[in-house]
Amino acid sequence: MKRKVIAYNLELTEALEKLDDQFKVQIFDSINPKTDPAFLEALKDAEGIVGLALPVDQELLDRAPKLKIVSNNSTGYNNLSIEVMSKRGVMGTNTPGVLEDTTADAIFGILLASARRIAELDHFVKSGNWQGHLTTAEYAIDVHHKTLGIIGMGKIGSAIAKRAHLGFDMDILYHNRTRNLEAEEKYHATYCNLDTLLKESDFVCLMTPLTPETENLIGEREFKLMKKSCIFVNGSRGKTVDETALIEALEQKEIHGAALDVYQIEPVKKGHPLLQFPNVVTTPHIGSSTYETELKMAELAVENLRAGLTGKLPKNLINPEVLN
Ligand code: DGY
Repeated sequence: MKRKVIAYNLELTEALEKLDDQFKVQIFDSINPKTDPAFLEALKDAEGIVGLALPVDQELLDRAPKLKIVSNNSTGYNNLSIEVMSKRGVMGTNTPGVLEDTTADAIFGILLASARRIAELDHFVKSGNWQGHLTTAEYAIDVHHKTLGIIGMGKIGSAIAKRAHLGFDMDILYHNRTRNLEAEEKYHATYCNLDTLLKESDFVCLMTPLTPETENLIGEREFKLMKKSCIFVNGSRGKTVDETALIEALEQKEIHGAALDVYQIEPVKKGHPLLQFPNVVTTPHIGSSTYETELKMAELAVENLRAGLTGKLPKNLINPEVLN
């Protein structure tokens, strides 16, 4: 009999074909994993789970006694309770190394769109409001030769710095847990503390993973430190930002605008206060969402799962302590 595996919110199911020889894959999409009866039943004998943003906590592990590996189809793994998984001997994996350029393109794209008001002016043209020469009401602000502050200088942060410095002649400030000497050398990035970055940047780009230390990292105090002309960009996770404080900062014109790919609760609901501002550019967590990159991620996630279930070391094991 084939061993059982669950695929959860994995859009490109063609990547699962590689499991067919040994595993029976049960596919779940857009269900509530806390209450869906078929999903809860499947957990009882599933040895592996591959998918996107499934909250894996004590409760789920208690329902899945045979589980050996959860293969996340994303780089971020804030949905996994790693400590609890390690205690239970369950491996966790993610998909770094294949999405950095794609995500950097998207996040630098929304930064540009925000500064140059691309979505707003697209609407201006399409709604027939372009009647004569442009007035100052349509003017935007420059990106080139400005200062970009990057919070979280990992691989995606570095790819953004590359675009900004080499393509747009921007000065780069960054704040990170550790120094990134390669970014300092290649993109002349200057390491500084968070407050200095917030005070001196024309664009503040948040790229840090969501951890207990970074939850609500940017709140009222931080928005007040930013320049009034600053555009705030969030390409990390929604929970790294206090959204109430962001709304307040926009209402009080403490910052110039924002570009957001992530939200505290996703999908963000119609009518959410952040969606009312013309100076806020929004996208639906599209960082890695191109066909080419999503396929590479899904294939890597499946490869990690297969390795974990066939006695090999998964390439992207997050919790190596589990091997002890
Ligand atoms: C990631 O890989 O973490 C992206 O944000 C997609 O979830």
